[in-house]
Amino acid sequence: MTAVTRVLVLNGPNLNRLGTREPTIYGTATLDELRTELSSAAEGVEIDLRQSNDEAELIGWLHDAADARTPVILNPAAFTHYSYALRDAVALVTEAGIPVIEVHLSNPHAREEFRHTSVISGVATGVIAGFGFGSYRLALAQLLHAH
Ligand code: DQA
Repeated sequence: MTAVTRVLVLNGPNLNRLGTREPTIYGTATLDELRTELSSAAEGVEIDLRQSNDEAELIGWLHDAADARTPVILNPAAFTHYSYALRDAVALVTEAGIPVIEVHLSNPHAREEFRHTSVISGVATGVIAGFGFGSYRLALAQLLHAH
């Protein structure tokens, strides 16, 4: 694999509200703080962190990642549980040999039953859940050091 110069960190619906959204589950830190934290752990690699509440926009960003061969850390948020369109977009990235790591702040398996299903995991390169921002940090470490 060619050297990683940029990592796309994609975040799905409602994650723009991190900091105030259900803080007992998701904590009080914001997406901007996540960007800062990941950038300082990125060893010079560019962290391109984006968030959208729009399925189509997330799909477009995954298409761009496939074209540019950019590895992705993806928190699909609620789309995890039902978006076949997002799953198909992830599949076209990973089938091209580009890693997509699915991450979650919480551990969905320890929550409501509808969160126990991920339609994304079956086509993701790997899954890390339950460690707050640590889930993203672990995913980044894997992308930076695993090859
Ligand atoms: C989440 C878990 C999802 O079930 C939920 O819909 C989210 C956030 C997480 O990071 O723990 O929005 O992906």
